[in-house]
Amino acid sequence: MAFPLDGNGPIENWFKGATSLTLSSELILFLFLPLLVFEAALSLNARRLIQDLGVILLLAIVGLVISTFIVGVAVSTATGVGLMTCLLLGAICSATDPVAVVGVFKDVGAPKRLATLVEGESLFNDATALVLFVIISGLMVDNAPLELLPATLQFLKVFTGGILVGLITAYLFCRVIALVKNSPLVNHALSVAMAYFAFIFAEHYLHVSGVMAVVSAGLFFGATTDRILNHVEIHTLHEGWEQLGFWANSIIFVIMGIVIAKFLPNLDWGTITALLVLIISANIARAGVIFGLLGVFERFRLVEPVSNAYKAVMTWGGLRGAVSLALALMVLESSDFGDAEKSFIVVLVSLFVLTTLFVNATTIGWLIRWLRLDQLSPVDEVLKRNALAEIYQAGLGKAQLTEGLSSAEIQGGDEVEQTSSEVKVTPEEWEELGLAMFMGLERRHYKQLLDQGAIDGQLFSELVNFIEDALDTVKQRGTPGLEILLDEELAFGWDFKAAVLLHRRFKLLTPLKTRIGRRFESLSAKQSALNQVLAMSAPVLLRATSDERVEAVKKILRGRRELIGQQLKALAAQFPTYFAALEKRRLNLDAANQELDALNRLSQSLMVPKDVADQLQADLSKKRVTASKMPVLDITLDTHALLLKVPLLKTLSSDQLISLTNKLTPSVFLPGEVVCQVGDPGDAMYFIVSGAMEVDLGEEAVILGSGEFFGELALIREQPRNASVKAVGFCELLRLNRSDFDTFITLHPSVRDEVMRAAEARA
Ligand code: CMP
Repeated sequence: MAFPLDGNGPIENWFKGATSLTLSSELILFLFLPLLVFEAALSLNARRLIQDLGVILLLAIVGLVISTFIVGVAVSTATGVGLMTCLLLGAICSATDPVAVVGVFKDVGAPKRLATLVEGESLFNDATALVLFVIISGLMVDNAPLELLPATLQFLKVFTGGILVGLITAYLFCRVIALVKNSPLVNHALSVAMAYFAFIFAEHYLHVSGVMAVVSAGLFFGATTDRILNHVEIHTLHEGWEQLGFWANSIIFVIMGIVIAKFLPNLDWGTITALLVLIISANIARAGVIFGLLGVFERFRLVEPVSNAYKAVMTWGGLRGAVSLALALMVLESSDFGDAEKSFIVVLVSLFVLTTLFVNATTIGWLIRWLRLDQLSPVDEVLKRNALAEIYQAGLGKAQLTEGLSSAEIQGGDEVEQTSSEVKVTPEEWEELGLAMFMGLERRHYKQLLDQGAIDGQLFSELVNFIEDALDTVKQRGTPGLEILLDEELAFGWDFKAAVLLHRRFKLLTPLKTRIGRRFESLSAKQSALNQVLAMSAPVLLRATSDERVEAVKKILRGRRELIGQQLKALAAQFPTYFAALEKRRLNLDAANQELDALNRLSQSLMVPKDVADQLQADLSKKRVTASKMPVLDITLDTHALLLKVPLLKTLSSDQLISLTNKLTPSVFLPGEVVCQVGDPGDAMYFIVSGAMEVDLGEEAVILGSGEFFGELALIREQPRNASVKAVGFCELLRLNRSDFDTFITLHPSVRDEVMRAAEARA
């Protein structure tokens, strides 16, 4: 960059300096893009994004490719400019900026998943646009014709390679960041380093997508922050990144403003026609992607149905922003393009971006009002009026209220209540409202648990995500939808099943231990929240409805509490020492929190000097951190100790037990998991070490408890299994292979007799 200071005074100097600013496309690529993209990725809720990742990726990649082609072909046909140049223009102009839509969705209370969909799509279509940009400009430089297969393969390699680099980088940086304690600024600096490192390493050294690397690093880091940082550090981090993102955005707009000034005097009718074609085709392409592609996903039930009104907002709100400008600047500063191509792209992209900002962004409010998305639902209307009535009763008085509210809304408490009954609210809507309010209380309880150190940030976000999903579901599908969700709530997810598999196949115990521990924590948090919520009287705002309806809502919640309680009981029965340790932790934590509260009261009443209070605060906080440490779950299966519990083997000497121990494989089964299926060939027998098994005999079922065995019949009679056996709760089993079983009973006639006797009785 050159800033000639020729002594013409500060203002002239500034203008001269600014217009003679020389940029390189590398500068834009390496300086700004990592910031813009990392900031967007970090602000996204990664766990939610993962739920819908498939749809988001399809929408972003397929949508962007479709849009690139539509725009490219339309502009090329209308202007006669080469197809490749127009495709490049199409790719640049198809990367959407989600700010406007997401802001609008927040204002009108759209489902949370929809906002994630829009933000996620925009994040990945930025990355797709850049990859396409590189591929198309590469083809233009080599003058090679576009071949679909190699181009697609190249795209996939660059895309997935980028993801891998980002994940590895983020993992390594997270390990370092976790070691830095109480230094929010250092954490922030490290995260900036992470973004640049991922980008440069991927782009420059490995020639894969730097933007994808930054996207995946940002998402991974975002999902990990609540485990490795406390909420003050997370807050600082997000604020810092917001600032960086803001500056990167602003600087790109300023640079574009300076650059475009050179081109605008040459604006002719040809360019204006091209701009019109670009605007129309880009909007048609966007509508096609949102209504068409999203419609297809809805048909295949890949996404929750999105109303046409929301789709219209998503289409019209598809603004273009700094990423498009940055790509256009890269064309301008690259030596690979001719002057005509450069001015064509820079002028069209910047005017198009401005159009979306000045036309789409400014009119989206009207669209929302026209589509009536801003209108309160009957339930919200009643709520608003009840809230007003409540405010009156609190004695705030008319005077203060008149300032903010229109005269129609201020009619005096009695009148407000009277009008509440005029709004038609169906019983179902009341039920939904009630559920929403109680869940709001549940969420508040989780916040308290987080503040008290009873749960960590990661569990907190999981719990809150669940509440938000439940609220969305209630809004969209009412109570029947919620019941399905509540069933899913207690099911074992893929991660749990994967952990069991890792343990069974590779004897890896840690993932399973972590999962079981998390389940304990999550169930206890839910149970305590529901206990508290159900003990409270109905929220005041529900008073316009009858007690019966409030009762109906409470019934659903009581049902949920009962199921959670059962699961927790089963776990506690299975891991009693761990459960006891958890109880002890809870008591210690309660005590520590009470001490902190007492100290706060004291220091507020100014009875302790500030420095003494600070010292005490530090000590007590340390104590609380120690108290909040989770106990270690011990499920290291000690086969030998476990065998002593099996009555069948009590005649064996200790040496014989040891030799048997070596032949047995321990394994954990989840509630409901099937160990063997009727009709299967018998390959092993099992000893139950803890938990219970249900033998399904068709007409009836027999329960076998710890110390008992099963699966012997098929081995002895050389026949298929005569019953299916599944785990009732968490179960620990010891498995003895068929060949070892044969040797074992030949060696120990007394055991053989015992097994035979049991087998005969069972058969
Ligand atoms: P197997 O047939 O190999 O597989 C199913 C197992 O269920 C069977 O061996 C027995 O161990 C067990 N089983 C079958 N019937 C009964 C019964 N009536 N009571 C207890 N266990 C049984």
